[in-house]
Amino acid sequence: MAERTILTLPKHEKLLRTPSKPVARVGQRTARLIEDLEETLAAAGGIGLAAPQIGVLERVALVTIGLGDDDEEEEAAATPPREPEVIVLINPEILDEEEGVRGYDGCLSIPGLQGYTERPRRMRVRALDRSGESVEYLFEGYDARVAAHEIDHLEGILFLDRLATLEDLYYIVEDEEGVGFLPYTEVHPEVELGDPPRLALPTRGIAGL
Ligand code: NI
Repeated sequence: MAERTILTLPKHEKLLRTPSKPVARVGQRTARLIEDLEETLAAAGGIGLAAPQIGVLERVALVTIGLGDDDEEEEAAATPPREPEVIVLINPEILDEEEGVRGYDGCLSIPGLQGYTERPRRMRVRALDRSGESVEYLFEGYDARVAAHEIDHLEGILFLDRLATLEDLYYIVEDEEGVGFLPYTEVHPEVELGDPPRLALPTRGIAGL
């Protein structure tokens, strides 16, 4: 079991944009990969992590469920609180998903940036669990957002590709006054979303970021 390095943009863009291969058999090697992902995710203090982010192009991802978010007060009131839990998705398959909802997106592989994207409000996924059993999940609200982000990683898709406009992208700026957000377009007015909407990096470019 080992903490691994999380690959980031722009250096590892090619790998992070490569679709991962299905796991042929859930065995010892997959168990070790899951342990490494768990340790790496915990060390990073993140909420999800996919195998390609540690350089392994296999369809394995961790998703923390039960976190909820500020936009879900109504839903939270209707359902009893539950403890956040990290689940493993192996070879996940999206069975169906509901209309998108706008919300916060960020990624351990894209440090210093955050954005707003549309993600499904509800999503049904079939995947293998860590013992190789087929399980069906119904993700809702923030859980669906996190699961969709991680499954995207397995397709080589990053949250940057889900931006409708660059106006939805921000640098996270930390200084003595606290954390602030600086529009990406103010730093890089020359950058445009491509078609398909892929952001040409640089992601860095101002002091301290
Ligand atoms: Ni990510």
